[in-house]
Formats: sequence, structure tokens, C-alpha cells
Amino acid sequence: MCSIIGIIGKNFVAPALVESLKRMEYRGYDSVGVATLSTNRISVRKGIGKVNQVNSNLNLAEMEGLVGIGHTRWATHGGVTDYNAHPHPCCSGDIAVVHNGIIENYLQLKEELVSKGHLFRSETDTEVIAHLLEDQYNASRDIKVAMMGTVNQLEGSYAFVAMFANGTLACARLDEPLVIGISDNAYYASSDVLGFLQYTDQAMFLDNRDIAIMDITGTCIFNFGGESVTRSVTKVAWELADANKGEFAHYTIKEIFEQRISIKAATYQEEHKIKAFCDAIVAAGKIVVTGSGTSYHTSLITSMLGARVMKKRFEPVMASEFKYNMDSVDKDTVVIAISQSGETADVLSATKLARAAGAKILSIVNVPTSSLARTADVSLGINSGPEIGVAATKSFTGQVSLAYAIVDRLSGGKVGFERDVVSDKITKMLGGSAGIERLVNMTMPKVNDIYLLGRSIHFPIALEGALKMKELAYVHAEGIAAGELKHGPLALMDKNAVVFVLNADDKTYSDTLSSAHEVKARGAKIIGISNVSNDIYDAMIEIPKMDNELLYPLVEIIPLQLFSYYLALHNNADPDFPRNLAKSVTVS
Ligand code: M6R
Repeated sequence: MCSIIGIIGKNFVAPALVESLKRMEYRGYDSVGVATLSTNRISVRKGIGKVNQVNSNLNLAEMEGLVGIGHTRWATHGGVTDYNAHPHPCCSGDIAVVHNGIIENYLQLKEELVSKGHLFRSETDTEVIAHLLEDQYNASRDIKVAMMGTVNQLEGSYAFVAMFANGTLACARLDEPLVIGISDNAYYASSDVLGFLQYTDQAMFLDNRDIAIMDITGTCIFNFGGESVTRSVTKVAWELADANKGEFAHYTIKEIFEQRISIKAATYQEEHKIKAFCDAIVAAGKIVVTGSGTSYHTSLITSMLGARVMKKRFEPVMASEFKYNMDSVDKDTVVIAISQSGETADVLSATKLARAAGAKILSIVNVPTSSLARTADVSLGINSGPEIGVAATKSFTGQVSLAYAIVDRLSGGKVGFERDVVSDKITKMLGGSAGIERLVNMTMPKVNDIYLLGRSIHFPIALEGALKMKELAYVHAEGIAAGELKHGPLALMDKNAVVFVLNADDKTYSDTLSSAHEVKARGAKIIGISNVSNDIYDAMIEIPKMDNELLYPLVEIIPLQLFSYYLALHNNADPDFPRNLAKSVTVS
């Protein structure tokens, strides 16, 4: 997803702009650009490609100026071209803009601006902001008035930073994150604290409908109506800045291995917060659990755990489907929103709708400073540290571990999640990574289709394993509730299919074994993931016996994550930054 950085400093800002863009690379992008102000003129350099590549082609870091803006673009409106990359200048070149989000009414605004003589150079929705600002600024010669006049015409969701040729940076946000960083030598405006955390831990989180105007003497904040507002300065955790690969070849494999620790970190919670979270669940008449992608799979597991252990109805709803399925959401409802980033547009929109219907919002997030964490009634962090790989790995097991801790607290320990015991079992599973790599090389040469079968608590893991294989290795993979095989998917089974069977020795065991026989009879290769061996498996990945069958997800997902990672390498895919995907999906 797009990243924004703006800096006003006492030294040339271009090297820091480029560094900041690199630190936010994990968000996903296709083009890069920087604009700086030097001798009252704005220069823009931009192009498609990765930050290092565009920097070495265009010498971004060598641009002169004490004020600048930078951007990595993830295309939404207009193709991936140099022209469509940000920053976008206005006609005179005296204002340049970087933007994240979508301007829904840009076609209408563009038509009006063109009829006034503005010349557009890109196909983006963003460029209307630069021309609107120019129009407003030419009329008023006042940046605050120009900003208010502009935001009041924009529809959609956005965060943008505009650089003016007089050395001012002005920014605004509506439903997209924007944070101001403050150090002794500079002011920063960024879509992500990682954009400036290497320089300062002092941050001011702008609220929706805030405008900030910054020069080297300070920052003034207003609402869209022009009234002054105060936003407190927060100290953000330095450990967030700890984003490097260490001894590992990729962030993804590093993060897979970090799960030994991160599943434990997820369960350390402040007493008053976890109490408030649990009290709200107990008091609720109805509980809806929502999330997207991997976090939706955690929602499925959380709902199963809640219903089984607490004998209470938990309803999982995909965040993108929430708006179509909220007739029963009311003031008696608690919505548990789960998200690694806390910035996923579908999740934020679900919670906004739920709140408007009177529901209470609880959240489980990894990024403690995110919009979801800050807007929920109670928010619990999973404490996983930065997850840079686009594919969610440690955030998933962190979310699931926290769900166990919550359900255990609510039920007097009925799941029996003991973090040290589970961490040891995960460590053992990780120790088998070389075997999984060999399995990829043995199994995969001729395979186009992978299926994963599981029942009950294993079904969300079948879905999550399939998601990992799709996004990391670009292989068609499908998670199937094993009992559904004969209702359709059996037609696809033949000798070209590889079928993972999630078959722990629990109450699903014999039914799932029958499913395995059904696919084996059609010639498919079977990889069993189980704690008991069986001749039917062409290969088997052994998992440890768990004391409670509800705990199997945490050990079953590890080999599937490893398999997906090695399959990505086998397929020459970049496991950290899969094509077409962004880490933080801030558009619906
Ligand atoms: O940040 P979130 O947990 O809200 O993100 C939700 C999904 O976009 C995310 O889980 C996505 O599916 C991952 N790429 C999965 O690996």
C-alpha cells in the first residue's frame, strides 16, 4: 500500500526520505518518487521499480533541499507508469502532492479543473489534489484556507502531504493514517511510524479530519472546519524500529522462526485491559468476530473456541462481508475485530458500521498505534514486533495464542494453553524445516494444484495453509472442510493433485482418514500432518500430541508456513513481497 513521508529539517532531507521509503517497503508498492525544495523551486524525480533501483537510476538521495516529500505507490487509479508515480506537481510546479487512499469524486473534480485550464499529466486520482490546492492557493494566498477549501471538496478516504514552494508542508487525513514525528532537527509526516522511527520516537497521531501545517518552527493542527485542535505527543516503542533480516535470507523465514517467542509475547497483557476485554464478552448478548485474510482465519478459530468452551454464540464474519450482514448488530453486540496492521480498510469500515449500530468494539492488533487500536473501546496487542513479510505468519499465531489466553481466562482454563509448553512444541516443528524443504523438492515438480483437508478446528488451518501457498508460491491451493469433499471437490482429485490431510488423533481422526482414502483412490498424493502414522500417507509431517485438541492449530500451521516459503523459493517467487499484494490493505 502507498507510503508517504514528508520531512522539514536543518540538513538536506533527500537521504532520509529515501531511507524512510526503504523502511516502509514492506507495505508493497510498484513505483517511487521524491520531491525536494531547493532555491524556491520544487524538483520531482520518480519512476517505476524498487526504491534502490529508482534511487540508483535517478539519484534520489542526492537531491538538494531542506524540505521534501517521498512516496511509494501501489497503483489503484491509472497504470504502473513513471507519470503516475507520485509526487504530482500542480501546473505552476509550486505545489507537489503525495497521497494514500482513493479520491472517489476525482473524475468530476478533474473535469471542473480542466475546464478552468488546469493541465493534467497523469491518470491518477491524486493529481486533482495538487490542482485543487493550486486553485485555492492562487485565490487566497493562504495555505490554511487552501487546505480547507481542498479537503472540503474531496470525497473518499485519503492522507496526503503537500509541499509548497515557500517551504511549508501541509497534510490532511480522512480514514487513512498519518502521523507527525518530532525530533530536535526535523519534523516528519508519514503514513507509518516506521517512516521516521529511526530518527525520533516522539509522535503525534492525527485524527480523522485533521489538517497539519508544518514549517521548521513547528506544527499547527486544525480540523477541517479550521478550528485549532491539540494532539498529544506520544512516545512510540523503539523496538518497532527493529526491522531487519538478521541472519535469515528473508523476513518471512525470520518471522516464521520468531514464532517460538512471539506466541508467548502475545499472552502478556495488562490486567486492567484483559479484564475489560473479557468483561465485555461476558456481558454481551451476541459476539461477532471479524477480520480479513489471515485475521479472518483467526476469527474462525476464535469463534470455534468461544462457542465450544464458553457455550456462547460467536459469529465469524469476513470484514469485507460485514456491511451486508449486519442486520442483527445492535447495542447488545460486541464486535471483536482482529487485524495485524490495524489499518485494513474493510476491518475499519466494519467497526465503524458496528459502532454506529450501537455495538461495542474490542480489537486484537499487532500495531499498537494503529487506527483500529486507537478507536476500539478496548484493544489488546499481540506484541509480535514488526511483521515485514507481506504474508502473515507470526501475527497469525500471536492472534491465536491471545485467543487461547482470553478463552482460558473466561473458562477457568478449559483449553489449557501453556505458552512455554506450546513454544517448545513449535521449536520442535521448526527444527524440521530442512525436511520440509526436501519434501517441497520431492513433491512439487509436476504439481499445479494443492488441496488441504481438515475438519472442525483444523479447517481454518486448511484455509490458512492454502492462503500461504497461494500468496507466497503462486500455486493454486484450496482449503476444504473434509466432509465437503463428496459434495463437489472430489471431482478434481487425480494423480496431479497433492492433498495435505490435517489429521491429528482427535475426534475428527477417523472421518478425516476416510476422506484421505477417498482422494487416494483417485490417485492423488497424500501428505499427512498428524501425530500418528498411517500407510495411506505418501509422506508424513509429524506433529506433537497436544493435550487439548483445540490447541492443534498452532503446531499444524508451522509446517504449512515452511512448505509455502520453500515452495516460493522453488518457484523463484519473492517470499517477502508477493506480486500484486500489499501488507496493509487500506482500500476497500
Ligand atoms: O493487517 P490485517 O491483519 O488486517 O490484514 C488482513 C489481510 O490483508 C492479511 O491477513 C492478508 O490476507 C495477508 N497477506 C495474509 O498472509
